[in-house]
Amino acid sequence: MLRTYNCGELRIQHANETVTLCGWVQKLRDKGGMVWVDLRDRYGVTQLIFQEGETARALIRTAKTLGREYVIQASGTVVERFAKNENMATGEIEVKVNKLTVLNPAKVPPFIIEDDTDGGDDLRMKYRYLDLRRNPVRKSLELRHRLMQLTRSFLDDQAFIEVETPVLIKSTPEGARDFVVPSRMNHGEFYALPQSPQTFKQLLMVSGFDRYFQIVKCFRDEDLRADRQPEFTQIDCEMSFVTQEDVFETFEGLIKSLFKHIKGITLEAFPRMSYHEAMKTYGSDKPDTRFDMKFVELNKVVQGKGFNVFDQAELVVGINASGCAGYSRKQLDALTDFVKKPQVGAKGLVYVKYNSDGSFKSSVDKFYGQDDLKAWAEKFEAVPGDLMLVLSGDIDHTRKALSELRLHLGDLLELRDKDTFAPLWVVDFPLLEWDEETQRYHAMHHPFTSPMAEDIPLLDTDPGKVRANAYDMVVNGVELGGGSIRIHNRDTQQRMFRHLGFSEAEAKSQFGFLMEAFEYGAPPHGGIAFGFDRLCALFGGSDSIRDFIAFPKNNAGRDVMIDSPSVIAKEQLDELGIALKI
Ligand code: AMO
Repeated sequence: MLRTYNCGELRIQHANETVTLCGWVQKLRDKGGMVWVDLRDRYGVTQLIFQEGETARALIRTAKTLGREYVIQASGTVVERFAKNENMATGEIEVKVNKLTVLNPAKVPPFIIEDDTDGGDDLRMKYRYLDLRRNPVRKSLELRHRLMQLTRSFLDDQAFIEVETPVLIKSTPEGARDFVVPSRMNHGEFYALPQSPQTFKQLLMVSGFDRYFQIVKCFRDEDLRADRQPEFTQIDCEMSFVTQEDVFETFEGLIKSLFKHIKGITLEAFPRMSYHEAMKTYGSDKPDTRFDMKFVELNKVVQGKGFNVFDQAELVVGINASGCAGYSRKQLDALTDFVKKPQVGAKGLVYVKYNSDGSFKSSVDKFYGQDDLKAWAEKFEAVPGDLMLVLSGDIDHTRKALSELRLHLGDLLELRDKDTFAPLWVVDFPLLEWDEETQRYHAMHHPFTSPMAEDIPLLDTDPGKVRANAYDMVVNGVELGGGSIRIHNRDTQQRMFRHLGFSEAEAKSQFGFLMEAFEYGAPPHGGIAFGFDRLCALFGGSDSIRDFIAFPKNNAGRDVMIDSPSVIAKEQLDELGIALKI
């Protein structure tokens, strides 16, 4: 070994010991006759000291030539520090150096490698390997590692077997867009990278594996956001001979165990909420239940009073911002601007202030008198000092916009504390979702999800009403995972494909292997997949999953460090039989 200790290890009890350390020069302070060097590695920082009279002159001269991020090896004696630093684990000691070797000099880094850096996002991504030397980024990856080990050990203890499934698979039309890979040996044909190992894990159930998991890369060519990357990691799981309850018990157990081990938090049983209730009371299928501010529907109270906007609306719905009646004109305008942003999409915002003297002041005073507004306040269960905010329009858009406003207010009012965790299961999802663009139904989860037995007759009469045996685990407004009890019967699966607009031939060519497998003794089965990067971000108290991925892509799907995607040579294209038309 080139070192006897790491840079986070030495304490006062090591005083007088001769040691050798290796690491990166974080900082150099040159006071003429005295030189201090902060030496950093993954474990911490140790101060090295070179002192006239004690250290050989030549050595001091060499120390003075060290630059930031030089890789060095230093040997010497551990001594008690004169001025101790309580903020450093090694702050009681320093190493008086008597031998110094520069293992590798370094160029001046493009940004400061400390907790607070001057590097912008792009620069840090281009030099991600330097960014990863910084404590906060390294800690995020350490957290990821720990969550991964704990997950593996929990599932292993419960008799789950980790099986790797292929990465070069077959393109399917459902879900997001596939990333495809051309085949050299089969010109004109393409593999697809898996959006998830869904069909393979189901086949493993047919094989009798009973309890499967895999911490696995998935690939989706979709628009990117803070919580979405084109390649991301799932904890993918499947079980045979289980009901929805069994899946809940097992995976609630996993998440609880992670919270216990990492955060020391004991979570209560996760509440359940139907999709319908989530949409009605929070306008979202992934409600942030850390705070209340539930939706109040107002159609009955507000319609028929001559205010056209409300009268014509399919839904009039609001939230009560408790204690916000004192909002200024400027603050209210800012809220109106917020809801009018294209991403939120509301046309306007109606407000009612419930003043402390019991009177009301609203933006629609022309249409509603004090008694009318009192009736609104009763619906909201508002008290003097509250601010009621109301949106109207068609059901879907209005709920979505109000949900955005609710979350925005939650942020403004600091109701979304990163150290509070509100998990829940969202259940009873619709099986199918109507798509205006293609004018057909899509599977809301995926085509392998089973319909609820009692709703099966509705498949032919009112398909949009059929509920699925599907569920999501939501924590603090983040969809952490989702799954379902699957179809395991060939005829039902075939029927499902028919409802999704597949011809018999299409279903056979795309999923014939699965339907055939169902004819060879497929057990009832179900499962779930968690977004592992999202899990890490939740535990790390961040909204962005990028911080928890060693080498992430930017919002344009590019890796700016290796500069990918990139063009390939003509010979390579020829070999693949691809002629580019750009
Ligand atoms: P689903 O598509 O819901 O289900 O994905 C499961 C979980 O994966 C995470 N996730 C993502 N994380 C980061 N970036 C992305 N682009 C991204 N897309 C999804 C989410 C999500 O809840 N095969 C099914 C699971 C099953 O039925 O068992 C599936 O993939 O946290």
